[in-house]
Amino acid sequence: FVHQLADARVPLDALLVSPFNLQGDPGLPLPAALYGPARPNSASVDLACLADREPLYATARDTAVPTVPEADAAAVDAAMQRLHAGFARWDATPVAGRGAALRRAAEALEARRAEFCGLLVREARKVMADAVAEVREAVDFLRYYAAEAEQRFAPLALPGPTGESNELRLRGRGVFVCISPWNFPLAIFTGQVAAALVAGNSVAAKPAEQTPAVAQRMVALLHGCGVPEDALQLLHGPGETVGAALVRDARCAGVAFTGSTEVAKAIQRSLADKDGPIVPLIAETGGINAMLVDSTALPEQVVDAVIQSAFRSAGQRCSALRLLCLHVHIADAVLRMLAGAMQELVVGDPLQRSTDVGPVIDAQAHAALARHVARLDAQARLVARTPLPAGLAGDHLAPVAYEVRDIAEVREEVFGPVLHVVRWGSGELATPEAVIDRVNALGYGLTLGVQTRIEGRALQVAQRARVGNVYVNRNMIGAVVGVQPFGGEGLSGTGPKAGGPHYLLRFASEQTLTINT
Ligand code: NAD
Ligand code: ALA
Repeated sequence: FVHQLADARVPLDALLVSPFNLQGDPGLPLPAALYGPARPNSASVDLACLADREPLYATARDTAVPTVPEADAAAVDAAMQRLHAGFARWDATPVAGRGAALRRAAEALEARRAEFCGLLVREARKVMADAVAEVREAVDFLRYYAAEAEQRFAPLALPGPTGESNELRLRGRGVFVCISPWNFPLAIFTGQVAAALVAGNSVAAKPAEQTPAVAQRMVALLHGCGVPEDALQLLHGPGETVGAALVRDARCAGVAFTGSTEVAKAIQRSLADKDGPIVPLIAETGGINAMLVDSTALPEQVVDAVIQSAFRSAGQRCSALRLLCLHVHIADAVLRMLAGAMQELVVGDPLQRSTDVGPVIDAQAHAALARHVARLDAQARLVARTPLPAGLAGDHLAPVAYEVRDIAEVREEVFGPVLHVVRWGSGELATPEAVIDRVNALGYGLTLGVQTRIEGRALQVAQRARVGNVYVNRNMIGAVVGVQPFGGEGLSGTGPKAGGPHYLLRFASEQTLTINT
């Protein structure tokens, strides 16, 4: 349907939900005050961007095209020195000035969105609909954090005794190290950097090795929009060397990390072992995300939500559905429909608009997923597998669903289009409470889907579940900035939530100024 609309020249991004698209609808309770006046959203993405064949900056793994310069120890030291020296000046820039740079960047990114969409399709292997949504999310982060900072960073006068003034002030911490993953190489990269900058920090940004070109262009855009080079430096290279060196550096005053739980823990250990001040870590990590479906749920709605949540973006979202928990009374009907829907998915080249599911990020990810699928082939019951077109080359993995015996069999995040299904409603999994307790016991806590027509049940389940984002009777991906603040707990992260009102506070230090007048 989306492709038909696109062929009929309906703007692709008019089909996506974001505050900017919804602003025109006065019935929706969106934070319009934060986003400024409603703007028409009619310009379509020029699909000519896909014809751009300019060589990308490549990762070290792909030697066929030019590589970005990898930062060595001297480059890390020089960047940290420059940012350390540049911090005081940037922090002294009024918050309105810092916010204005972010707003200019939002305008520029919107104006160049076709170029960035093309880059996301080519470098991050995104399908066009995902690329459009990601550019939109990056723009949202820039405007949202600018507006939030302007509201929250104004000095707060506090009541005190006569003859004394008291004021609480927020300011930057110093050099913030921002480390981001490849699966949202524009939105997450931009969100972290924008938040750290607008709070008054200077920023050392380390993007994922797989997606350096997106970061390179976004940093150039930010510099062009008034963020000084002394306040923002980009360092490419492997996480184990460049990322680790930035975290270890004595001038690092805070770390914002999004990526795997394992690396977050390594960073936490490294920070704890450092001499000097206690350095805060904001970590947003992986999840084993479940959907609880009871016997009152609408099978069609369940299947639609499962297809989107488990297989869109080739399952390469931290929020994606990994564990579908179906009540025994509805399980067979849902699985029959799911198997049918999975036959309709089109796996293929992301450059083709008919493609629903593109390749996974690289051969290494493909090999790890293929090993997991081979294990499931031997140990679990196959529910359905999407057919791969004959002769399809590249790192494609067919969306696949297996029925497993127990929730505990899903112990690790499987970062691809692989769905595990369990039945509940008898034995140890007799009740929704028992299911949620077992999901909690996995230790992750990112997203949870609930499908039910029993009004009170969704709230009871949400109350019991130790997760950051609960989605009822819909899909469980694509959190909207300022509308669905996003982030988890436990093994899924430290909080605060990206795109939410508390996020910027963790990037700031607080000072109380008491003056005897
Ligand atoms: P990853 O942990 O392998 O890498 C993330 C970043 O950390 C990269 O820039 C990498 O170079 C760097 N890095 C690796 N080792 C490091 C070290 N020792 N010290 C410092 N930096 C280091 O993750 P990935 O494969 O790029 O991304 C996928 C993961 O990210 C998944 O687990 C996914 O769930 C998670 N993720 C979470 C969120 C969220 O908001 N919770 C969002 C997107 C992705
Ligand atoms: N914020 C992204 C989502 O909600 C990861 O899917």
